[in-house]
Amino acid sequence: MDFLSLFVFLIPIYVANSSPVLLGGKSYPLDFYKNFIDGRRLLGDGKTIKGFVGGIVCGALAGALIADFYLLPFFPDKKAQVFGGMALAFGTLLGDALGSFVKRRFGVPNGRPFFPDTIMFLAVAMLLVYPFALPSLYGIWNLLFVFLLTIILHPLTNFIANKMGLKNVPW
Ligand code: CTP
Ligand code: MG
Repeated sequence: MDFLSLFVFLIPIYVANSSPVLLGGKSYPLDFYKNFIDGRRLLGDGKTIKGFVGGIVCGALAGALIADFYLLPFFPDKKAQVFGGMALAFGTLLGDALGSFVKRRFGVPNGRPFFPDTIMFLAVAMLLVYPFALPSLYGIWNLLFVFLLTIILHPLTNFIANKMGLKNVPW
C-alpha cells in the first residue's frame, strides 16, 4: 500500500473539511433558516454559505496545487487529478451538509458529537471522485486506510482545534 500517496490524496478532503472552521465567524446559514417537515432545522446554524463555498474553494485549490508537483497513482493524468480535487472538495462539503441533515433528523443538536460526522464527508467525497479516479483507488486496503485514518484523525484534529481556541467544542 502506498501510504504517502493515500495521505496526499486525502489532503484536499481534509483542507475542505477544516477550512470552514478557520473561516468561522457569523455567516448566513446554508439552509436559509428553513425547517424540515419534522419541524427541526434542515441543516442548522453550523453549516454556513461562507463555510460551504470557502471549504470547496480551499480544498480545490489544495488539490490543484498538489497536482502541480505530484501526480498521484489514483488518477490517469494531471487534468483528471485537478478535477478530481474539485470533486473531492465539493463532495466533502456536500457530505458534511448531508451529515448535518441526518443529525438534525435524529434530533442531535448543533455542534454535538455524532459518529457519522467522522466519515460522512469522506464517503461522499470518495463517491464523487469516482468519474475522475482510476479503479485502483477503490481497492479494499486503500479504503480501509483512508476510513480508519480519518476515524482517528477527525476527533484528534477537533480536539487540537479546540485547545487552540479555533473551535468551541472538542469534537
Ligand atoms: N462551518 C461552516 N460552514 C460549513 C461547515 C462548517 O461555517 N458548511 C463552521 C461552523 O462555524 C461550524 C464549524 O465550522 O460550527 C464546525 O463545523 P462542524 O463541526 O461540521 O459543524 P457543527 O457546528 O458541529 O454543526 P453540526 O452539528 O451540524 O455538524
Ligand atoms: Mg461538529
